[in-house]
Order: sequence, then C-alpha cells, then structure tokens
Amino acid sequence: MLRSTKVRIAILGSGAGSNAKALCVAARENATLYTVALVISTSAKAGICEVARDEGVELCVISGDVKGETFTEQLGSLLQDHRIEVLVLAGFMRLLPPEILRRMHGNVLNIHPALLPEFGGKGMYGIHVHEAVITAHKVESGATVHVVSENYDEGAVVGQMRIPVEATDSPLTLQEKVKLVEHQLYPAAVDQFIRTLK
Ligand code: GRF
Repeated sequence: MLRSTKVRIAILGSGAGSNAKALCVAARENATLYTVALVISTSAKAGICEVARDEGVELCVISGDVKGETFTEQLGSLLQDHRIEVLVLAGFMRLLPPEILRRMHGNVLNIHPALLPEFGGKGMYGIHVHEAVITAHKVESGATVHVVSENYDEGAVVGQMRIPVEATDSPLTLQEKVKLVEHQLYPAAVDQFIRTLK
C-alpha cells in the first residue's frame, strides 16, 4: 500500500550498534519508508547507546533479566507509548518474549550474519557463525533479514545478500565483510517488509 507517513520503527539491541547506525543514516538521508522513533538497549554501556545519541534518536535502556516479566512489561510499554509499528532487532542475542511478538502482530525483524536456514539456531551468534562457515568450507556466506518467530532464526526470510568466502578468509575477516553487507541489506529489507504491511 502507499503510505503518506513514515512507519515508526524501534531498534532493539545490546551490541556495537553498527546496524543501528546504518538504519539511522539511511532514514536521516530520507531514503526510507521508515523513521527511527526509538533505540532500546539492554545495556547502558553498549555502543548502540552512543549511536542513538550521535543520531539524535530517543534512547531507552532496559537493564535486568531479558527473560523476566519486568523486561517484557517495560518493552511492551515503550513500544505502545512510542506508537512503534515495526520492531527491528540489531544485536539482540536472546529470544524475544512471545507476548512482545503478539503485541507487535508479528511485525518484528532480525538480521543474522549468515545465509539462513544454514548456520542459524541456538549458539549461532557472533564469531561462532563465521567459524562454522569456514569450518564447513563454504564458498559463499552473507546476511539474512527475517521475520522473528518464537524460535531462533526461523521466521520467513525478507531479504538476503551473498558474498564469496575467500580461501584466505579467517572468521574475523569474514565477520567484517558480512557486517558491511548487513549495513546495505538491513535498511532495504526493512523497507521491503514495510511494503508488505496492510
Ligand atoms: C550483527 O552481526 C547481526 O547480524 C547480529 O548481531 C550483530 C550486531 O552487530 N544479529 P551491531 O551491534 O549491529 O554492530
């Protein structure tokens, strides 16, 4: 459908924030169907907090146990109060509480640093993913944006970008290359998803 106003997204993470940065930059350059209304971090020390401050985006930190009821309640209230239409995970390493998925009507996206369905699931995060890709002698890797479900890395794929794995790649060099791909893919995939919203 054609929208006259931008879709309000929140970015949730606890990492360096490089994907949050890419999402904010694309929006700031007015090249997207979304606006970043809120950044939520589960750690006050995470790089993603710095990104939010640099970009002038409202930041909320929810600390404590992400499996607990308090986390679910606080996150749910933030999403409601800020009228968030799509929740975008970027470096959120835990399963999202099912109540949040229901509240968001399934409009939750995640980015994974490999070509799902391969190299996904519990324990497949960060450098472990790239170690596994290299150990399996894959000639290609990349990044996947998918809809979040109640299981790790299993929802419908929204977009993927591929890169070759070179014989000289280490897990670290591959991680760096995949990150660059993620930064191109994520803003485009969020827009792609928004186009499918009723
Ligand atoms: C990314 O590699 C993403 O694929 C994974 O977590 C990492 C977050 O990195 N889900 P950053 O915080 O966006 O730099």
